[in-house]
Order: sequence, then C-alpha cells, then structure tokens
Amino acid sequence: MASSKRSEWNNNVAFVMAMIGSAIGLGNICRFPNVLYSNGGGSFMIPYIVSLFLLGISFVLVEYAVGYRFKSSLSKSLYTVKSKLEPVAWFISFIVFLITTYYICVVAWDLIYVFLSFTKAWGSNPDLFFSNNVLQASDSLSGIFTIVPWVFISVLSIWLVSWFIVQRDLNEGIGKVSQILLPILCLIVVVIVVFSLSLPGASIGYTQIFTPDWSALANLNVWLAAFGQIIFSLSLGMSIALTYASYLPEGAKLTDNALIVAFSNSGFEVFNSIGIFSILGFMTLSTGIPFNELVTEGTGLAFVVFPKVFNIMGPWATVIAPLFFLCILFAGITSVMALLEVVSYSISEKFDFSRRKSATIVCISGFCISCLFTTSSGSMLLGIFDGFLNNFALLFGVLLECIIFGWIYKFDNLIDTLNEYSTIKMGKLWKTVIKYILPFCIFGLWAQGVYSTLL
Ligand code: PHE
Repeated sequence: MASSKRSEWNNNVAFVMAMIGSAIGLGNICRFPNVLYSNGGGSFMIPYIVSLFLLGISFVLVEYAVGYRFKSSLSKSLYTVKSKLEPVAWFISFIVFLITTYYICVVAWDLIYVFLSFTKAWGSNPDLFFSNNVLQASDSLSGIFTIVPWVFISVLSIWLVSWFIVQRDLNEGIGKVSQILLPILCLIVVVIVVFSLSLPGASIGYTQIFTPDWSALANLNVWLAAFGQIIFSLSLGMSIALTYASYLPEGAKLTDNALIVAFSNSGFEVFNSIGIFSILGFMTLSTGIPFNELVTEGTGLAFVVFPKVFNIMGPWATVIAPLFFLCILFAGITSVMALLEVVSYSISEKFDFSRRKSATIVCISGFCISCLFTTSSGSMLLGIFDGFLNNFALLFGVLLECIIFGWIYKFDNLIDTLNEYSTIKMGKLWKTVIKYILPFCIFGLWAQGVYSTLL
C-alpha cells in the first residue's frame, strides 16, 4: 500500500520553508497594511509584538509539539487523545476544506491580474472593471449562477497546479516548491520596496508606519486587532503546523523552528508594508486622494487601488505591476498547498489511501465547490466565506485546540516533547497562556464582533 510509509521532511530547511510559505499569504500583503493603519500606525507594533510572542508563538508550539509527538494528522491525534474527539477533528478538516475552496478563488483572481497587468487591461476605471468584468457575467444579472469564463479557467488552473504539487512526494512537491517560490517571493518584495521608496511622495506613506498614536494603546480593540492579525497571518487553528510538524524527523528543535517561522512571517509583512505604504503615499501626492481612503481592506487594496496606482505610475508600472501580482500569486499558492495537505493527509491516513488518491479526491470535490465562486454571485459568496474564516473558523479552531490540549490532554507531555531537543525551553507560563489567556482572548474577539455587528 502506497501510504504505509509515512512521509518525512528531508531536512529542517524544507520544513521551515514550507511553514513560512503556509503563513505568508494574502493576509500579509493585503490585510496587514489596513490593520496596521487603522489601529494606531507605529504604536500598533507593540500589541502586535506582544500578541506574536505571547499568543502566536505559544499556539504554534502546541501544534508543533502535538504533530511531532503523535506523528499523525489532526484526526488521528485527537482520536489518540480521546476517541470521542475524532469528529471534532473532521469538523476542523471540513472547515479547512471550505477555506481552501474560496481562498483558491482569490488566488485565481490574482492570476488573472498577473496577465492583465502587462497591458493594464483593467482600463481607466479599475473599480468598474473589478466589479463588472472580472467577477460578474454581465451588468444585468442574466442568472445568478452564470459562470464567468475567465474566472472559471483561472480557478481550474490553480486547482490543477495545486493538485500537481500536493499529490507528489512531500519533499518533491511541497518541499521543493516552497524552497523555490519563497526566495523568489522575497526577492520580488525587496525589488518592490526599494523601487517604491524612490517614488515621489513615498514618505507620506511610510512615515505612517513609524508615526505612533500612543492613545491607541489604551483601546482594547487595537489589542484584539493585533491578536486577530497574528491568528490570520500565522494561519493558526487550522492544524497546518500540526500536519507539517508530524513529518519532522527525530531530533527537531521545535521552539527554534517556531521562532524562525514567526519572525520571518512578521518580518515579511512589516517589510512589505513599507512598500505598500510608500506606493500609496505616491498616489496621494499625485492625485490628492487622501491617504486614509487608499488604505482599503484586502481584495479592494490589491485589485482596485493598486491598478489605479499602476495606471498613473508611468513606464515602470510595466515591471512593477506584474511583480506585485506575481508576489500575491506565489504567496497564495504556498498557503493553498498547506491547506490541501491538511485535508488530504487526514483522508489518506484514515482510509489508507495513497497521497495521490486522497489529493485527487480532495481537489476534484474542492474544485466543484469553487465553481460556485466563479459564477456571477461569486464575489458575494466569497465575502460570506471570508467573514466566516475571519470571525469564526480560525478562532474556533484555536479555541478547540486550546481546550483539547490544554485541558483534556496532559499538557506536561507536550512540554516534555517540546523541550527534548529545543535550545529554548518552555514551561509553566506556556501552559497558562494556552489554558487561560488564549481562550480568554478568543472570547474577547467574539464579543467584540457581536458588539460591532449589533451597533
Ligand atoms: N496565513 C494566510 C495569509 O496570510 C491566511 C490563511 C489562514 C491561510 C488560515 C490558511 C489558513 O494569507
């Protein structure tokens, strides 16, 4: 049986690169600048760093320790903790599966923009282009489920590429692709940042990152926003870290790895935001549009604001625009691989399927669901899924894992596993964070969400 031999990373670098790839995604590029700007600019770095250390790294360590100790997928790990918990794991895996189906579509939009960017084919009014041409079949809704051909083709391509990578041997597929794409990604970001700093008006933008609004620190919502960003950016609660860590060979330095991954992910988003802010500063100077109107959220930033910037950038846009969208594409694909691996591994382990067979099953069924997002109602559906991911799924995953491993499982076993080879040892504080502080923060985020919805 092809699956009887467990996969194992060839070396620590492959694991670390795959982990960083899973974390760096659309959230680092499109979500972080808006969160940073709306929560106090420079002073946001304080809650951000506190959340990173206290909550983000602590939680990643739980997943590393569980994956490394149990050497199995989330479902089998939870089954080992308590057989009745297995359905919980399948529930999380199902959520991961749903996230993949919509996340892939945003990556697919981006792929379309890579091609558009060479000729700035979004035209002089990128708002209209984004809402009418890319996402909807026509202005008049001829049918809410009319397939938009280009989106369909793009989604299909991304699914095919992802399937091809994930069904291969772990090191040949995910390992190799991460080690190729990640350095290219970093190089692109360096080029974009260096270029953007040379633009007139750049300082209007980047000074925002370094100008603190200290009063923001007294605002609880700012702290919750920092925590929310860390959860999203590090892809916590979806058992990605658990799955990847289960493939680690004996002797892995778990804490050291977690620090490298967390710092790389955060370093990437902070560094990248210097470029994003500088480019937006240039836009403010050139057009007079106030800076705060430009720092929009997520897809709006990438697919509406940036095309507008490229329209007025002059000849350099021909180089920078494709690089920008390629950057999002590569960051997105490495995150998709991780999401797929979580689901595919659970299935292959449970049913003793080969990598190829389970990846094929997951990709075919996932593609069928993704097709919903390629219809004229796609962007609306996508918004619903995105809200579900941000406000519920990730938080729920983190909370469940904190309860299961902090309260039901003997947490001291995880402390032993983690400290076995790591240079930096963890102890009682870690346990307190997982058992009490993290669940408390999750409830805080939910309460804030409910409160702001009701108001
Ligand atoms: N971390 C990813 C990003 O920054 C988002 C993500 C969250 C991906 C959860 C997978 C799971 O874009």
